[in-house]
Amino acid sequence: MARKLTDRVSWVGKTDWELKKFHGDEFTTVNGSSYNSYLVRDEKTVLIDTAWLPYDKEFVKNLKEEINLANIDAVIALHGEIDHSGALTELMREMPENTPIYCTANGVKSIQGQYHKDWNFQVVKTGDKLLLGETTLTFIEAPMLHWPDTMFAYLDKENILFSSDGFGQHLASEFLYADEVEQDLLYNEAIKYYANILAPFGMMATKKITELMQMNLPIDMICPSHGLIWRKEPMQIVTKYLEWANHYQENQITILYDTMWNDTKKMAEAIARGMQNKDKTVTIKILNTAKNDKTDVLTEVFRSKMILVGSPTVNNGYLHSIAGILEMIKGMKLKDKKAAAFGSYGWSGEAVKQLTEYLKTCGFEVVNEGFRCMWTPDEATEKELEKFGEDLA
Ligand code: FEO
Repeated sequence: MARKLTDRVSWVGKTDWELKKFHGDEFTTVNGSSYNSYLVRDEKTVLIDTAWLPYDKEFVKNLKEEINLANIDAVIALHGEIDHSGALTELMREMPENTPIYCTANGVKSIQGQYHKDWNFQVVKTGDKLLLGETTLTFIEAPMLHWPDTMFAYLDKENILFSSDGFGQHLASEFLYADEVEQDLLYNEAIKYYANILAPFGMMATKKITELMQMNLPIDMICPSHGLIWRKEPMQIVTKYLEWANHYQENQITILYDTMWNDTKKMAEAIARGMQNKDKTVTIKILNTAKNDKTDVLTEVFRSKMILVGSPTVNNGYLHSIAGILEMIKGMKLKDKKAAAFGSYGWSGEAVKQLTEYLKTCGFEVVNEGFRCMWTPDEATEKELEKFGEDLA
């Protein structure tokens, strides 16, 4: 069902209440999501983005209840990923054959690569304009936010920035606007989205936001392609992005571990005790990577000034949940965070050394050689581990 944002602009997207996983099984979306699509009606009418493939028929059916498809003059594809382009095939089947699709050059590659259709693509670059009547849509390429094809679009007179995945959140809501929902929940989903999707591209985010600010565009609303729309003080999320993109850290240490017979778990808890003894102000999170959700783990790592990573040695290496999460952490390309490793062993005991080396390749400043414990930590070893934690804190 269409929902009016202004006299000219309506939301015609799909709220996905039941989405629990995104990007396959990579991203946990406990609060669902939405695929935001917008209809802009002036002398010309344009549709900005569509919805995820499983909802293609529903999307087109709802759109037809709002407007005769023949009256849509153009489709704007801000980003080719299937959660926004998925309904294009169904839509274009019913629209006049030659309806133009405005997107970047990389957008053409992405959309053709997925749908293998020779649609009427109109390639746009930063600064290109589409006159709609009284209003004009200006395109702003935003490569790597988060794909090479991504662009934003700015609608003057209405002062709306359509920001694609940027500034979004995976959050299904009965409301449209960010100021209508519980703020802790909103910001938790916004930082989770940033940490898991946009963190590797912090430099690009800073550059693009700076460029946007230098354009001095009045912005009354920021309409992302997922979640709630920023209407009240819309620049609040832009300010947050600048903070998150600038080597973000809170006064938090996160201890990640996996364990076979609880010895490495005991080590994690003893280290945490030492840290708490030393510094009562630091937030310490202890997460078993085999039991905690990886989306949450990455978000806690993103918030941290230091991480500790622990695993017992098994088959001359470390446990697979630690290997998996480290691969994801490496991809985040985090800067200015410290790290150290720990783990128990019975025989060969290589894991701590391997973890220490791998943490360096993930971009962490590794602050010591780690702590290895043969077999189960006894009382004296637990004291040493507490001291290890104190020193790190
Ligand atoms: Fe929401 Fe990158 O697609």
